[in-house]
Amino acid sequence: MIKVMLTGANGQLGQALRHYMSLQKSTFTLMPFSHGELDIADEQAVLDAVMQCQPDFIINTAAYNNVELAETETEQAFKVNQLGPKNLAKAAQTMAATLIQISTDYVFDGHQAAAYVEDDTPLPLNQYGKSKLAGEQSVQDICSKHIIIRTAWVFSEWGNNFVKSMVNLAANNHSLNIVNDQLGCPTYAGDLAAAIINIMSQLTAKSHQQADNTALYDTYHFCGYPYANRYQYVEAIYANLKQSQPELATPTLLPVASATFASKAIRPTHSMLACSKITNTFGIAPSDWQAGLAKMFNPLTGTHDN
Ligand SMILES: NC(=O)c1ccc[n+]([C@@H]2O[C@H](COP(=O)([O-])OP(=O)(O)OC[C@H]3O[C@@H](n4cnc5c(N)ncnc54)[C@H](OP(=O)(O)O)[C@@H]3O)[C@@H](O)[C@H]2O)c1
Repeated sequence: MIKVMLTGANGQLGQALRHYMSLQKSTFTLMPFSHGELDIADEQAVLDAVMQCQPDFIINTAAYNNVELAETETEQAFKVNQLGPKNLAKAAQTMAATLIQISTDYVFDGHQAAAYVEDDTPLPLNQYGKSKLAGEQSVQDICSKHIIIRTAWVFSEWGNNFVKSMVNLAANNHSLNIVNDQLGCPTYAGDLAAAIINIMSQLTAKSHQQADNTALYDTYHFCGYPYANRYQYVEAIYANLKQSQPELATPTLLPVASATFASKAIRPTHSMLACSKITNTFGIAPSDWQAGLAKMFNPLTGTHDN
């Protein structure tokens, strides 16, 4: 059995992982910790929990994710996004566990026209991105067996996310202004969970074959394809909503520039992530986010095959 400790277990990705791992109970023993059960910013509590679990893998999905509030609650954002992974990295290193840390496209400034590869220089524009990058660096510095996965625009039937916000807005709005100058990669959380499980299985199989996994402990991009701008993404969300509830009137969408919205946090405009490294290394294809949307809105007829 592969022993897996999960932090942030009640968040969106945490719930997706719990769901997909419950389908593989004969392979994985999951030890989930919600925020209430384990504060990753508490170094001693983290060490105690890791020593008690003796995991093969620790998956850290816990994060401070409010991009806007992070501009004013910066200390709290760094506590969760830098100190938390640092504490987990120390404990993982002590117990020789592999730490899987989830990071973000917001480590990049978005000034590049092409999709970012893992070796491109990060240059975060906002405090959320800076705190997540600091978390990545702590994990790289401290924990020799680590996998960092940068992802983007995560949605699913679990937890809170942009898709659910758009559905809620549809109920009370005849028209909505949607930015059309932010290009990114919607990612279905179920696909991300499946990718993480796949990586754990492959690393375990290789270590059972006495293979040297050292070169695999690295940073990878995993997100959805095809790339979309926010406007196209919202169009797809409402097309799915309309299909699942034909009687519902969806809002008219008005394309606008990001500058129209007053915002403390600057967001990258082109934050597409190239996923060829994870495909070449582990054979994992990018998330089919349009299939993920269909599955989220209509779990019985969605074409997604997870
Ligand atoms: N969602 C996205 O669009 C997106 C995009 C790029 C990257 N990511 C990354 O993907 C990962 C998963 O995101 P998600 O969408 O699943 O986020 P989420 O739904 O916000 O879940 C995060 C979880 O972390 C918990 N948490 C916060 N502070 C904690 C602490 N100090 N100790 C332990 N748990 C704590 C939260 O609990 P409370 O709610 O009780 O505070 C929540 O359950 C994160 O690393 C995130 O940065 C997400």
